[in-house]
Amino acid sequence: MVNNSRNSSFSSSPFPTDARELQGKRALVTGGSRGIGAAVVRRLTDAGAKVVASARTPVADFPADATFVQGDVGTLAGARALAQRAEELLGGVDILINNAGAARSFAGALAVSDEEWVDALNANYLAAVRLSAAVLPGMLARQHGVIVNVSSVSAYIAGPPMAHYGAAKAALNAYSKSLATELAPKGIRVNVVSPGNVTTPGADKVREDIAGHFGIDVQALTAGIPLGRKGAPTDISELIGFLVSERAAWITGSAFIIDGGETSFVA
Ligand SMILES: NC(=O)c1ccc[n+]([C@@H]2O[C@H](COP(=O)([O-])OP(=O)(O)OC[C@H]3O[C@@H](n4cnc5c(N)ncnc54)[C@H](OP(=O)(O)O)[C@@H]3O)[C@@H](O)[C@H]2O)c1
Repeated sequence: MVNNSRNSSFSSSPFPTDARELQGKRALVTGGSRGIGAAVVRRLTDAGAKVVASARTPVADFPADATFVQGDVGTLAGARALAQRAEELLGGVDILINNAGAARSFAGALAVSDEEWVDALNANYLAAVRLSAAVLPGMLARQHGVIVNVSSVSAYIAGPPMAHYGAAKAALNAYSKSLATELAPKGIRVNVVSPGNVTTPGADKVREDIAGHFGIDVQALTAGIPLGRKGAPTDISELIGFLVSERAAWITGSAFIIDGGETSFVA
């Protein structure tokens, strides 16, 4: 297990990682500059994969053993350009982690502008559709590939008012199931991971905004998690690291909620 960036967004999983498990695999991780995506970058590199990660904004402490590509996956051109650059840098993409996304605004459904609806769909849903379309020809030619789409418990539950975000994530789940069914006979697996409340720069800001809006303590928003704490990005990256490995060879078309028990058995 390599850890050249402890205490940063790129800290290793607290669990031992087999450094050979993903050796020879080539991975593209969107939204890999911080939060859950940064933990996935570290988890996959620790397991021996070559990783290209993207975000719109570069970060100073990006790990030397992965490659950063700047770009916006919220546009068709941006998604296609990223996929092409990743193919050039890696020589092919065996693992695609569609993680970039965000609940950028919260408001009742009628208060969400048309631009915000389109932005939510682009960032949380269509980015995954477009990137998958771009890397799948290579995966199909090799008859091998793994896609993990990072969704949210908001795809299942109506929490704070974020209908546009929840609807985009629910579309991502439905798309992933169809894709998994279609591609299973061709050796390609597709799964969905839906986090609950995880401590990340993006989600911490959203929770602060929601607490401020309702005039409540931000701690109250996550006080009811049965396992007694918010998730760490490494809690999510550990599941993703498993799903992309051969140990998960019989898992496809599945959607995993990982939320400390907060939405137990909702789906
Ligand atoms: N943390 C949670 O509690 C939680 C809960 C449920 C679901 N999720 C999901 O988990 C995923 C990761 O969230 P996070 O909490 O780690 O968020 P975060 O801390 O805000 O990180 C998001 C990452 O995605 C990148 N990104 C966002 N929009 C992008 C775009 N249009 N093009 C390229 N990169 C983009 C960000 O970099 P730039 O901004 O520089 O582009 C950053 O690297 C998201 O899909 C989110 O919906 C998170």
